[in-house]
Amino acid sequence: MVAPVILYGSPVLRKSSADITGEDNITGISETLFSTLKNAKGIGLAGPQVSLLKRAFVIDTSPLSEDDITIEKYEKVFINPMILERNNDDVMFREGCLSIPDIFEEVKRPSKIWVRYNDLSFNIVEEEMTGIVARIFQHEYDHLEGILFIDKINPVKRKILSPKLNKIKILSRGSVNYYG
Ligand code: CO
Repeated sequence: MVAPVILYGSPVLRKSSADITGEDNITGISETLFSTLKNAKGIGLAGPQVSLLKRAFVIDTSPLSEDDITIEKYEKVFINPMILERNNDDVMFREGCLSIPDIFEEVKRPSKIWVRYNDLSFNIVEEEMTGIVARIFQHEYDHLEGILFIDKINPVKRKILSPKLNKIKILSRGSVNYYG
């Protein structure tokens, strides 16, 4: 099921998400996240962005690999993800977010991370990540803590963006009414 994407300004994006347990419908959560992400043609989507305060997110690099054949397709769901370690090599990369449409800014993050998560069968997986996947993982992980990429940009740039952000805030109020 494709869910409405929650926009910046909605309080749900600022909350911390709860762990997923055996009681949760993991397959259903994963399906909603993937279909909403594909419908929006994004590359990553986290629970809070579909009003689900649960620790899960999905990555799907297909829109990038279609544009650039050097980027390998990577599609995965991450349940209860954790970042165990980060390297000291920070890199800049232009990020965007489906909850903050039409805003793209450079964000500094470590280039390499070591992560742990549960897969769909609730097996524990540990993995080393670099490149675009490490970047998306960190962006989505922040969503589970109520953090948005605009929190991490240069304060002067943030100030310049504030009229644009306020417009999205007004839209987000509208969407709350529309979707009940
Ligand atoms: Co985002």
